[in-house]
Amino acid sequence: MTASVRTTDPASTEASVRHLLVVGSGGRENALGWALARCPGVERVWVAPGNGGTAQLEGCEPLAIGESDQEGLLRAALELGVTLVVVGPEGPLANGLADRLRAGGLAVFGPGADGAQLEASKQWAKALMQEAGVPSAGHWPASSRSEALAVLEAVGRPLVVKADGLAAGKGVTVAESLEESRAAIEEIFAGRFGEAGDSLVLEERLSGPEVSVFALTDGQAMVLLPPAQDHKRIGEGDTGPNTGGMGAYAPAPLLDAAALERVRREVLEPTLQALRQRGIDYRGVIYAGLMLSEGGLKVIEFNCRFGDPECQTLMPLLGGELAAVLLACARGNLNQAPPLTISAGCSACVVAAAEGYPGDVRRGDVIHSQSLSTPQRQLFHAGSRLEESGACVTAGGRVLAVVAQAEDFDAAFASAYAGLDQVHYEGITFRRDIGHQVRRP
Ligand code: AMP
Ligand code: GLY
Repeated sequence: MTASVRTTDPASTEASVRHLLVVGSGGRENALGWALARCPGVERVWVAPGNGGTAQLEGCEPLAIGESDQEGLLRAALELGVTLVVVGPEGPLANGLADRLRAGGLAVFGPGADGAQLEASKQWAKALMQEAGVPSAGHWPASSRSEALAVLEAVGRPLVVKADGLAAGKGVTVAESLEESRAAIEEIFAGRFGEAGDSLVLEERLSGPEVSVFALTDGQAMVLLPPAQDHKRIGEGDTGPNTGGMGAYAPAPLLDAAALERVRREVLEPTLQALRQRGIDYRGVIYAGLMLSEGGLKVIEFNCRFGDPECQTLMPLLGGELAAVLLACARGNLNQAPPLTISAGCSACVVAAAEGYPGDVRRGDVIHSQSLSTPQRQLFHAGSRLEESGACVTAGGRVLAVVAQAEDFDAAFASAYAGLDQVHYEGITFRRDIGHQVRRP
């Protein structure tokens, strides 16, 4: 399976992406670094700031500059002769990192602050969806406590409550009762999410399986990656509190090729067009979180970046044209990029967290991992740190992920779990049932 983009002279594009900079410190950024470093022509990928596993990835090097240090990143990128910067997380994008780097003359994969509103403001994103005719849950924006409570009373049924701004995945309450909706509204306007909770969106509650689609775009053309399914809950059987994601798999059979084309036509193309109508030249990823509800396919959310751990799951399925494709997105000439090869295999990703996640976690435990990486299996660090002694220790909620590819999901998950058996640290916590939807019992 290959994406339908026109071919050009690959040598010219490959040669121009010798040095890359990936911004971020998570598992997503490690996977991006790994995937870009193995593209032909790429000599070095700096990951700023990276994590305890970055230096173990062939061709990757950590760079001790924080993701919010715009001037430091710009200076370093220019000094290092970087031709493409890939920005991983939403925070720096919403804060205008891509704008600053572009103004400094760099090619950047990632939208400016204007386009990042797709994720950074739920009200803005819902208005855009409505304007573009993109199917999504019915909604009511509200900018004050009294306005929100009045809507809730008038509607008279429990509504989903979403803080407007970035809230690290914690700003959404899927309420079961009016009381729960009320409490969530009170909490937001009491300042739980700071400025992100100056306003909110109330939404009709939908139900159905969820799946994510990622479009790489230069603002005009786009390449779709295989659909992926994430596991948000900490507990087996999809129970317990929400997390950033405890595992994923791709391609998710929930969307076949025809359904993916519908997502392109009915969701992604109208969204890009609405962005252009607002004068926004969106160059980066559009992540569409979709729900297959009784009333049909609906957009639950848009994000302006790759999912984590969906990115770790997808990168091993992509071919060596990736660097050229991302550069073409950044330069606005995706139609001239080589077609992105997408492997037909199945990819399985299992995240290992620290004890206590998603609450307060243990830190500082030494991570022992045997050489479990093979051409079909990868270890991507996330919340880890390299100490001066050379020991790699846990330093965050989601510590690492093991990803494996095979012809079917049973074999892919068997390999991922076999790899995880070779990883040890005190308090290691992971789900044994990732991919239960696609594995034989
Ligand atoms: P979001 O941050 O918007 O992705 O919301 C987080 C999670 O809340 C989603 O992945 C869904 O599981 C759930 N959710 C969000 N909006 C709705 C909705 N309108 N109906 C039901 N569940 C929702
Ligand atoms: N895995 C969900 C996210 O990255 O938002």
